[in-house]
Amino acid sequence: MKPFRLAVMASGNGSNFSAIQQATQDGRISGEIVCLIYDRKEAFVQERAKQAGVPSFYVSLKASGSKVAYEQQIVQILRDHQVDCVILAGYMKIVGETLLAAYEGKMLNIHPAFLPEFPGKQGILDAFNAGVSQTGVTVHLVDEGVDTGKILLQERVPVLPEDSLDSLAERIHQVEHRLYPQAIEAFLTQFEKE
Ligand code: GRF
Repeated sequence: MKPFRLAVMASGNGSNFSAIQQATQDGRISGEIVCLIYDRKEAFVQERAKQAGVPSFYVSLKASGSKVAYEQQIVQILRDHQVDCVILAGYMKIVGETLLAAYEGKMLNIHPAFLPEFPGKQGILDAFNAGVSQTGVTVHLVDEGVDTGKILLQERVPVLPEDSLDSLAERIHQVEHRLYPQAIEAFLTQFEKE
């Protein structure tokens, strides 16, 4: 079977993009990243895509005029690249109905907490401030809610008494970089191309 065609959507640093890209290169993911879509002009992830030779596309909500028009542009890029599966990796917008209608059930997200604990934009900070002794990482399908879709894989991460926010974030990111490729591959093995 041909390798699955993956798109990554991101807004920032892109360390998960690099971890996934590496996993496609060394055979841990039976797919290839065929494009990166990013929504913040200054996002460092575009440099990572350039270095990896992955075509990247900047799409601006502001310039699009509406969320629907913005997501129509994204769907067009995904269709042009015959994308099977969309991987959100630090994409900071809520997915709207246009994008969801095109890729529901084929769109994954990673969240830096053990859902349903600490959903939302600040999962690491919220867990840290809550003083819990463990948090986690979750990979889930994207639905119309915020971090509410079906959970595919999750793992606990301890919060140590001596942790700073930075040291906790670092531990969580390390788990993400291992867990996301694993979850993507497990998803792809039961995924049928249309
Ligand atoms: C990750 O912590 C991910 O869980 C969250 O956003 C962060 C993205 O990090 N959704 P990076 O841009 O992949 O380095």
